[in-house]
Amino acid sequence: MEEVHIFCPATIANVSCGFDVLGLALDSVGDTMIVRKTEEPGIKISKITGQDLPLTTEKNVAGVAGLALLEKANYKGGFEIEIHKKIKPGSGIGSSAASSAGAVAGMNMLLGNPFTLSELVTFAMQGEKLASNVAHADNVAPALFGGFTLVRSYEPLDVIPIPTPTALYATVIHPQIEIKTADSRKILKNTFSLTQGIKQWGNVGGLVAGLFTNDYELIGRSLEDHIIEPIRSILIPEFANVTQAAKKAGALGAGISGSGPSIFALSEGEQIAKKVADAMRKIYSSTGIDFDIHVSKIATKGVRTIA
Ligand code: HSE
Repeated sequence: MEEVHIFCPATIANVSCGFDVLGLALDSVGDTMIVRKTEEPGIKISKITGQDLPLTTEKNVAGVAGLALLEKANYKGGFEIEIHKKIKPGSGIGSSAASSAGAVAGMNMLLGNPFTLSELVTFAMQGEKLASNVAHADNVAPALFGGFTLVRSYEPLDVIPIPTPTALYATVIHPQIEIKTADSRKILKNTFSLTQGIKQWGNVGGLVAGLFTNDYELIGRSLEDHIIEPIRSILIPEFANVTQAAKKAGALGAGISGSGPSIFALSEGEQIAKKVADAMRKIYSSTGIDFDIHVSKIATKGVRTIA
């Protein structure tokens, strides 16, 4: 195989209670990429459409993630990468993660899969480090594994794939304002109270238990964030109104997608997820801010080949 065409899913990191540890992949929102083997060693980003992003390998998240893989690979040639962006940078749905994960997954396929998914996560994290100054894995892990993932530990890296109830759908509204992850991390505090911690880890456990047992109500009750959201939500216009309206329309719960500005809601079934989209649309239509809305099933697979 000399070339792969792949779909690289958008992801929702944190999923309210799991800052930097929980994430999920979307089934029908994402970028496409073409990765090709070349005789010339190294990585060349040959084309980017959809967004104005750097073509220089060392300045591009896909390039940097790819170089991290190449360093460990027993391969003398190189790769050429085309990136077709649908996910806007700074949207909060894992734009940099899709490119980083896509690069390393595509290269791994072309090399005959010498690396495990967890090893690919460590390479893709280098792309995240370039994008946000922090090598967080809560977007790249679900982008590579699919479904929900839990980063139980960073040192050593321990990614736990979590089963996804089949009727779970995400609705995401993306207001067209850019919030850089690096900036929205700067406003966070380094400490929190024991009372906040108790609520937070209760919810992380509840969410994981709900996903394992298909308990939609428990999933919904656990979508609370007592530490990050109260600080970050001030950056997102109409945040409280949107999450309230989503729940009123039947969503199990709602919160900030990654570092924002996107807001996500999870629902049982596509019909409710679409009603939630209508409720979100109604609120944002009166703000004068442009926005996109996505309704998607949770992806069962991570980066995947397409025809
Ligand atoms: N966990 C990261 C953050 C995700 O919230 O900063 C960024 O998409």
